[in-house]
Amino acid sequence: MKIETILIATPMHDHMRALIEEHRALDHYTLLFRHPDDVSESDVTQADALVAFKRPGNVDMSRFKWVHSLGAGVDKLMNGIDWPEDVLLTRTVTSFGERISEYTLSYLLRQTQKHAEFRRIQVLKEWDFIPPDPLNTRHVVVYGTGEIGSKVAQTCDFFGMTVTGVSRSGETKEPFMHVLTPDKTDSDWEKSMQSAHLIINTMPLTNETQQYFDSEFFEACHDVLFINVGRGESVVDEALLDALDQGQVKEAVLDVFSEEPLPQAHPFWTHPGIEITPHISAITTAEEGLACFLDTVGQLERGKALPNQVNTEQGY
Ligand code: GLV
Repeated sequence: MKIETILIATPMHDHMRALIEEHRALDHYTLLFRHPDDVSESDVTQADALVAFKRPGNVDMSRFKWVHSLGAGVDKLMNGIDWPEDVLLTRTVTSFGERISEYTLSYLLRQTQKHAEFRRIQVLKEWDFIPPDPLNTRHVVVYGTGEIGSKVAQTCDFFGMTVTGVSRSGETKEPFMHVLTPDKTDSDWEKSMQSAHLIINTMPLTNETQQYFDSEFFEACHDVLFINVGRGESVVDEALLDALDQGQVKEAVLDVFSEEPLPQAHPFWTHPGIEITPHISAITTAEEGLACFLDTVGQLERGKALPNQVNTEQGY
């Protein structure tokens, strides 16, 4: 594939330009650095590759030979259009799994180490013997067994937790103890959800994962910590609110939402059982985003297989 001009359309375009200049990288390409809102028709006409988090405006993606997502997800590039068959799509693979593991552990440990209870009794100057719950008594269900889900599973496994994975194929995979399919009528699935202490969604947004976490799903849960770092559109918001009110979900930690920023009037903001973070669980830094992009350029130039190529039929 012959690429000559690359359009880098991201809010961090200045930072990426500085890093590229510092590394003296990509000097045999013409590079166009733009804020996504400033991409012009002439930029698109000139460029044969696009690097971005999302489609800049209503750009016709068939104008490019190659598109590289600066995020792990590609839904903001693919959604609402038929992906042109001959356009290569790659995505960023970097330390997202490590970051999401830290994010997850922080909320899980807060519960198991009973921080809120110790704070409560400290205020009362009470010496009350409340034992923490060891992590090796916890059952974690990780939705998505790809790069990110596997890393989260590895971290949970390291602490002795029982880790079940859920994937489209249900194929056994290390380090998951079991892998299930997302079939809500399967009795093994139901048993797993009932015994889970933590359920974390790391899945990409596809037709199958859209609105997957609905009332039928939450009915199978019991007093669970639900963490969503995948996509907001995978959750039916009203079903989650009902599940919190009925105790199927004890606490929900949400980093992603159907609409971002989360609208001011949304009931999630004020629900006592919900913790909100503004889509920060796995930020692509300019350094890491660039490193993955440069690796991909190198592999493309050498005609190597691309481990981060997206299967555009599946959407991940
Ligand atoms: C963030 O949500 C990403 O897709 O990287």
